[in-house]
Amino acid sequence: MKRLAFSLALLCLTLGAAAQVTAGTAKFKVGDQPAWSNPAFDDSAWQTLSLDKDWTMQGIRNPNNFAWYRIHVVIPSSLKKAAVTSGMVLLDLGPVDDADETWFNGQPVGKTGHFPADPEGFSGNWQKPRHYLVSPRQVRWDKDNVIAVRVYNGGDPGGFYQREVRIGEPELANLAELTVGAENGKARIVLTSRTKLSGELRLETTDVLTDTQTGSETRRVRIVPGKETVVTVPIQDGNRLSAIYYDDRFDDLIAGSYSAPYILTPQAPATPRYNGPLVFGVRPGSPVIFRLAFSGDKPMKYAVEGLPAGVKLDPDKGVLSGSVAEAGDYPLVLIARNEKGEARAEFTLKVGAKIALTPPMGWNSWNCWGLSVSQEKVMSSATALINRGLADYGYAYMNIDDAWEAEERAPDGSIVTNEKFPDIKGLADWLHANGLKMGIYSSPGDRTCGGYLGTIGHEQQDAETWNAWGVDYLKYDWCGYSKVFNADPDKSVAAYVRPYLKMQQYLRQQPRDIFYSLCQYGMADVWKWGHAVDANSWRTTGDITDTWASLYNIGFQRQTELYPYAGPGHWNDPDMLVVGKVGWSNSLRDSRLTPDEQYTHISLWALLAANMLIGCDMAQMDDFTFNLLCNNEVNAVNQDILGIQAHRDVEEDGFQIWSRPLADGTLAVGIFNLNDSSAHVDLAGCLAKIGLEDVKNVRDLWRQKDIPASTCIIPSHGVRLLKVRR
Ligand code: GAL
Repeated sequence: MKRLAFSLALLCLTLGAAAQVTAGTAKFKVGDQPAWSNPAFDDSAWQTLSLDKDWTMQGIRNPNNFAWYRIHVVIPSSLKKAAVTSGMVLLDLGPVDDADETWFNGQPVGKTGHFPADPEGFSGNWQKPRHYLVSPRQVRWDKDNVIAVRVYNGGDPGGFYQREVRIGEPELANLAELTVGAENGKARIVLTSRTKLSGELRLETTDVLTDTQTGSETRRVRIVPGKETVVTVPIQDGNRLSAIYYDDRFDDLIAGSYSAPYILTPQAPATPRYNGPLVFGVRPGSPVIFRLAFSGDKPMKYAVEGLPAGVKLDPDKGVLSGSVAEAGDYPLVLIARNEKGEARAEFTLKVGAKIALTPPMGWNSWNCWGLSVSQEKVMSSATALINRGLADYGYAYMNIDDAWEAEERAPDGSIVTNEKFPDIKGLADWLHANGLKMGIYSSPGDRTCGGYLGTIGHEQQDAETWNAWGVDYLKYDWCGYSKVFNADPDKSVAAYVRPYLKMQQYLRQQPRDIFYSLCQYGMADVWKWGHAVDANSWRTTGDITDTWASLYNIGFQRQTELYPYAGPGHWNDPDMLVVGKVGWSNSLRDSRLTPDEQYTHISLWALLAANMLIGCDMAQMDDFTFNLLCNNEVNAVNQDILGIQAHRDVEEDGFQIWSRPLADGTLAVGIFNLNDSSAHVDLAGCLAKIGLEDVKNVRDLWRQKDIPASTCIIPSHGVRLLKVRR
């Protein structure tokens, strides 16, 4: 592996930058007219926008609509020689939010995503850099050239947002693509190109757990435009295939890799086993909605000892319902029986002022369905939550994110759902009957981030409507409120707190417990005042996505100082999980995180006492993802009743050690290898670094096995999650 990395770096150094010209601004207009693709069109009256900021940041609100950019650029003839030699000129537009169609000097050159009127229906691709190719003959050398970009924005922000447009000589990576995926237990390498190419494909497989090479080969390949060159190779679980294509003509390479999943969680026993939280908080008089989380063979019969008056148990479903008038701690014994045996768990029902005594566990629609969420999709994931057994591990909230709202309020001003949610009350009733809970999303502003109606001026009415529907969780997202904020000269912390205080007042007047989830990306150090508005959690950062860079930034870099602010009833929220099938749209794909990155993700969220909201389509959950989310010993760290968030104890040479004390006197310890290569790690040495010498017992929580504190291998971006008894 080392040798490979070295040759890669060397090549990058010797290649040098390709000749190019850039443009940082464009003429811009909201609307949509075919004539705007014409280079001769007079756009001098249009406004000028910068291309490195989205249009929302430049004061334009234009959700679910078209707008055009016309980029004027003089292309110098000094670029001509290189363009003629490679036969192409690259228009490197960077990413565009969300879908675009582009013309160069009046000729169509490409399209990314689909518009609402397309037969496929709208699908954006806001993260993908647009690389369109034109022939040198289409260029007006030393003269004005016009790149006309028709953009459809499915919810603000919209448009160009990252950087200037670059025009020049293409590199191999702009012309050819190498992707590696899996199909029927084999790794599948797909090469495509927009020009004829030939070169060498080098393949190497490594077992990530033992860090040994398990195979290597080199093949000659040809790539023809319009056709996929496909190579398949067998791959074992826990192996990583790295593929590098070296091109003869360009003397350059493109590379990709695929890591086959491997399951560490041992299979759950057939006998009942309790996997849920050991406490549950409810306010006096509020509905108790709680599902007993026992794994094991079904059918099961449930019983509870010590139930207070007012609460009853459905013995077939294991669902508690009713309410308790008197505040107090009610010790219960939860019992489940099946053909194979019986299990009992000691549990406390805490009736009092506090809810969310352990971090919320459940699902949210955003990371999978984005704005395409519907009642049907929520039901399908809820059914899978039960049938697949995730509910047996304590996952209970089914949270609908943005895009449930109708275009307009009812004549009496009340908020209503759109056609995708024909019966939201019915959905809540069904969830409650199954011991699950329903969450909803809104904004204190006039609009949500997706451009849907917010609560402004209707806060009390909306809180009452949600209560009537049976809402148990509100994610309240700043977004459109920035207009109110920007118009007010007051920029003190109080100005950030105000909208959340207002909703707190109305939420807490409702006769049910509504988990209050603040979403304003960490502004004004929300963790310092979130508890003062009785929030149960607050997002600490912007949105997460399924890349290592995002996970690293949000999970590791942005959480280190936040541990003092979390505790039973109020949690730091580093955003939803990005494992399983995600996509933020109607089209889903497997998370791009490697299996080790996913183990790191879940381990870190367990240590951080973070909200555990699954972000994938549960109806399509594979065994790897299920086992990742349903390891009872790992989840017990997240749900530990002390609620102490982990502290980062060590950061050294790309390794980090985080630890948190648990209620049983042990310590949960995560040793993370954030390097790009796997490492041999001396566990005893690591534990000594955090003051744990001569420990009595070390347990590997993913493998659910006691282990010696000896040397082990931690794969790149991977983790050892331990429970240590002193
Ligand atoms: C973002 C928020 C996301 C999602 C989205 C919906 O601001 O951070 O988690 O809720 O809005 O439009």
